[in-house]
Amino acid sequence: MNPSTRRRTVADLAGLPIERTLHRATPFLKWAGGKSQLLAAYEQNFPYEFRSYFEPFTGGGAVFFYLKNSRPAFDATLSDLNGELVNCYTMIRDEVEVLIKELKKHKNEQEYFYAVRALDPAKLTEAQRAARLIYMNKTCFNGLYRVNSKGQFNVPFGSYKNPRFCDDTNLRACSAALDGVEILHQPFHHVLKTAKKGDFVYFDPPYHPLSSTANFTSYTKNSFSAEDQETLAEVATRLHKRGCMFMLSNSDTPFIRDLYKQFEIKTIYAMRAINCKADGRGPVAEVLVTNY
Ligand SMILES: C[S@@+](CC[C@H](N)C(=O)[O-])C[C@H]1O[C@@H](n2cnc3c(N)ncnc32)[C@H](O)[C@@H]1O
Repeated sequence: MNPSTRRRTVADLAGLPIERTLHRATPFLKWAGGKSQLLAAYEQNFPYEFRSYFEPFTGGGAVFFYLKNSRPAFDATLSDLNGELVNCYTMIRDEVEVLIKELKKHKNEQEYFYAVRALDPAKLTEAQRAARLIYMNKTCFNGLYRVNSKGQFNVPFGSYKNPRFCDDTNLRACSAALDGVEILHQPFHHVLKTAKKGDFVYFDPPYHPLSSTANFTSYTKNSFSAEDQETLAEVATRLHKRGCMFMLSNSDTPFIRDLYKQFEIKTIYAMRAINCKADGRGPVAEVLVTNY
């Protein structure tokens, strides 16, 4: 049997388009703090098997998609406080063809970009909102997601020659990976409502700033304070007592090390793709906390 026949047979059996079965889903957005570059360093720290998976700060979802491609099947709950992002995941899971159709209507032109940026998401359909977010993420400067105090996207046009804002193959693969996944718009501590013994929770919060001027906390219109970091450490401790496994990424600061001192803390070196620090060149030390 030649490879093309074999491929068709696998896809036919699953009743899915070929690309939904063969392409490995990767993040469909570029996200500040995205973990794609760190997956190799994280690999030996992930548990191999777990009951359900929870990611309460999903962002670009690099860890979720990685685990989906490398672990036995698992149930998952993805959540985030960014409503536009959560809508995007939901549309990819439920209406990927409608979303692709909407995305194809967009153009990589400066004036057009600013007109789309100025639209009020509340006046668009859910598919249009999701397409708008992906389009702006791929064509804006540096792929950043940043909003002003009113929650309005405020990143300028990127002037890239040929940004691939409609990668239908990957979007369909993401849709397949998200099939059956619970997607929720909620603050991180709500993970306590459903996580049970044997579950695995990965926390990737906005990082505690290394200095008072190095603060990038604008994924949502609310910033993430030192009190939020303390609440997060309490949530992690409660999950630990419940018999859940948790893993947490954060910056390497005395404050964060102190919050998690009862757990295992490893140092990981990251080359950050989006770094708001002027001195953000070269590897930056981060911590990886685990309780297993
Ligand atoms: C560091 S990013 C996650 C990056 C992600 N792991 C990736 O690979 O792309 C942090 C995420 O936390 C979300 N967030 C901020 N405050 C939150 C809160 N209080 N509860 C839940 N999510 C929050 C932001 O919207 C953002 O998507």
